[in-house]
Amino acid sequence: MTVVETSTEALLEFRGVEAHYGPVQALRSIDIRISKGEIVSLIGANGAGKTTLLSTIFGAPRASRGEILHRGEDIAKLPTNRVAARGIALVPEGRQIYADMTVEENLMMGTTAIGMSGYEDDRAAMFDLFPRLKERRNQIAGTMSGGEQQMLAIGRAMMARPELILFDEPSLGLAPLIVKRIFEVLAEIASMGKTIFLVEQNAHHALRLSNRAYVMVNGRIHMSGESASLLDNEDVRKAYLGLH
Ligand SMILES: Nc1ncnc2c1ncn2[C@@H]1O[C@H](COP(=O)(O)OP(=O)(O)OP(=O)(O)O)[C@@H](O)[C@H]1O
Ligand SMILES: [Mg+2]
Repeated sequence: MTVVETSTEALLEFRGVEAHYGPVQALRSIDIRISKGEIVSLIGANGAGKTTLLSTIFGAPRASRGEILHRGEDIAKLPTNRVAARGIALVPEGRQIYADMTVEENLMMGTTAIGMSGYEDDRAAMFDLFPRLKERRNQIAGTMSGGEQQMLAIGRAMMARPELILFDEPSLGLAPLIVKRIFEVLAEIASMGKTIFLVEQNAHHALRLSNRAYVMVNGRIHMSGESASLLDNEDVRKAYLGLH
């Protein structure tokens, strides 16, 4: 494999990353590069290894080979809290909000990596983005709709003041109108200067939002490029967009 050296340092870079679950190899020589300010998407079918890839950033599972560089430093062996403290937040697959806690308590949990100083201001900014969460701040999170819970999961990640946000299938299981709203929110978050790495099965929306994209098949990066050209690519259209 040839490593292409470029002049600008990537914000996040995977170099030859592999990962295993016991004897089963889930990631194979992954090379991905994300620059500051980009929206990069990763699309692929069920079981391709997308969640595993995001999980290696936080060390579960740990990369068994290769490097995960954040600002040029290898973070593959750091404990989860140290990764979070570097300004990387995850909006996990299936939301994983604290269902028995209120909206407000869930938001507080998002500050673990940075502490509570500045909480009020951060919360106000977040409520500007999600007025619905402001209305529902005292509601038990598990009683909210799927769309509201997804907004809360995003809001909680934002409370850590991340520079880079990793989204794992934020549109999964939501109605088309809510999906549209989620993608509008992602665009707003990007316009706030955040860098976004978006994992999605909803390839159409993901490719329309992102600048660049990677296509994952069976634990490998199968294809990558400008999102606009992948949208026009015949193989991508057949496999992921249901078009011929
Ligand atoms: N904790 C685990 N233990 C063993 N195998 C696992 C574990 N988690 C994932 N796998 C396996 O690793 C492979 C990749 O799974 P992963 O969850 O990363 O896929 P994915 O692309 O996120 O799929 P989906 O779109 O369904 O979320 C699959 O074959 C899966 O069965
Ligand atoms: Mg997944």
